[in-house]
Amino acid sequence: MASPGGPGYLRLYINIDHVATIRQARHTDEPDPAAAAVLCEAAGADGITAHLREDRRHIQDADLDAILRVARTPFNLEMAVTDEMLAIAERLRPHQVTLVPERREEVTTEGGLDVTLQPGRVKDALTRLAAAGIRTSLFIDADPRMIDQSAALGTAAIELHTGRYCHTPGDPATLAALRDCARRARAAGLAVHAGHGLTVRNVGPVAAIRDIEELNIGHTIVSRSVFVGIAEAVKEMRRAMDDAR
Ligand code: PXP
Repeated sequence: MASPGGPGYLRLYINIDHVATIRQARHTDEPDPAAAAVLCEAAGADGITAHLREDRRHIQDADLDAILRVARTPFNLEMAVTDEMLAIAERLRPHQVTLVPERREEVTTEGGLDVTLQPGRVKDALTRLAAAGIRTSLFIDADPRMIDQSAALGTAAIELHTGRYCHTPGDPATLAALRDCARRARAAGLAVHAGHGLTVRNVGPVAAIRDIEELNIGHTIVSRSVFVGIAEAVKEMRRAMDDAR
């Protein structure tokens, strides 16, 4: 098993959005996503991820300040390509920004960012973020066109959307697409991340793809926390990843 930071190590970033979802259900002050971040780190998370949505349905602006105050590991901010979000990122200067598509009516991020549409806008965003010293990632579908266009736009990393793989268990084509696109992206000089819909039951085949170096996992961690606590939920995931790698 690879050691943290060493060659072949697969980083686990925990997305804590749904800790905020529970709090926002009552518009109260618990549970606190920043406190969750600290517990996840203590349990072995390599980084923390949060998505500041334009409608602020879960994570709030103040949560980002609080997370950045207490987190010891790198912070990955997921956000849409808007002027408002770019200004926030430039002010906060997280370790990494992952650009995602956003539609107000969606329950969760349904597909990857189509980087062939408005490439100038995405490129400007990447340039602004890089100028602020922020590592950039693009959340895209496992589609060779998206990989090639992402490389052309000059991002440091891509995150492959694993939703299709998760929603079609047993379909070898969706896993093969992830594997092929991860290989293609690495060959183009991009760092490869993946995430969406992963659980301890389906993470193995994705974790086994050696070209992938980082996973972003959220909903299942928060839902498992209800039964086993957040530290154990993170450890379970880490074990499932290590068993597959
Ligand atoms: N990666 C990105 C870009 C996402 O938008 C999300 C969902 O917020 C995730 C990963 C994590 O997905 P899940 O909550 O299903 O683990």
